[in-house]
Amino acid sequence: MQYPSRVRIIDVGPRDGLQNEKQPVASEAKIELVARLHAAGLKEIEVTSYVSPKWVPQMADNHAVMSGMRREPGVRYSVLTPNMKGFEAALLDQPDEIVVFGAASEAFSQRNINCSIAESIERFAPVAQAARAAGIAVRGAMSCTVGCPYEGEIAPARVEYLAGLMKGIGVERVDVADTIGVGTPRKVQRAIEAALKHYDIDHVSGHFHDTYGQALSNTLAAMELGVWNFQSSVSGLGGCPYAKGATGNVATEDVVYLMNGLGIETGIDLDRLVDAGAYISGVLGKKPQSRVAVALLNKRAG
Ligand code: HMG
Ligand code: MG
Repeated sequence: MQYPSRVRIIDVGPRDGLQNEKQPVASEAKIELVARLHAAGLKEIEVTSYVSPKWVPQMADNHAVMSGMRREPGVRYSVLTPNMKGFEAALLDQPDEIVVFGAASEAFSQRNINCSIAESIERFAPVAQAARAAGIAVRGAMSCTVGCPYEGEIAPARVEYLAGLMKGIGVERVDVADTIGVGTPRKVQRAIEAALKHYDIDHVSGHFHDTYGQALSNTLAAMELGVWNFQSSVSGLGGCPYAKGATGNVATEDVVYLMNGLGIETGIDLDRLVDAGAYISGVLGKKPQSRVAVALLNKRAG
């Protein structure tokens, strides 16, 4: 068993992180967070969602954020688009990648995007096609790949099914998401293996929420299979409004510390990342959720 020599991280903090905040966050603060993530070395940032503002008011300023931020060359900025309406709005802001988001669980699909898995694929198909025609990359998030807040445990066969549907409509890479953070290493490996039935190892990423404190272990377990793409959230922000009780993504700071310790390249400067996390935590009036960030900030203060 050998871990990959480098990993690529998509920071989803501005999107997954801030979509779940009760208090409104100013667009300027989101723009500043994106800039600070770039300064820390992130080459991929998930910025916002083009979803219904009635469903997720936190992302209603998608256009203000995407048009107000400075675009750095060599950085991929991605956004969520659940349907053609979202895609058409996103297109005006020229994202580098769009993300369609489906679920391995029927109940979660209904609660999150108000349609069945089959209907979601019908909605995603023209989005994927239009994006590729416009030269925009297409990623597919697969929620609830190990557990669902409404259905409980999810069988790997359901993940394989969804991954096959995503592949069939031209989605180029997929995220295996543990939306509610219930997964443990073997279960997460089975979900990843199911995705690998349709996608090669370079096109499958891990997206682990840390609700039960398993996300770093699950990251290692994914790396044992050769996965080297991950999503994480600065300061451990995050959660989904339609997955009650789920906490944030694994903190990017914690992932980078782990990789540094293993000698795995990330291209990310941990100190500047801690600064980015401290910045947004300050805006939210919270302590950083990252254990590594807290430890390093304490060390700085001492
Ligand atoms: P719907 O109500 O079924 O949509 O919602 P509809 O087509 O029937 O339209 C109803 C209204 O919504 C209409 O407006 C549409 O124009 C509007 P009205 O005529 O009533 O004024 N509408 C839109 N507005 C803006 N942007 C759009 C859009 N589409 C329709 N794109 C819909 C369906 C998908 C829109 C809704 O369910 C929705 O917005 N859901 C968003 C859910 C969401 O954002 N969840 C969080 C992200 S997923 C996640 O966090 C998981 C992930 O991190 C991975 C993991 O951890 O698992 C990715
Ligand atoms: Mg998520």
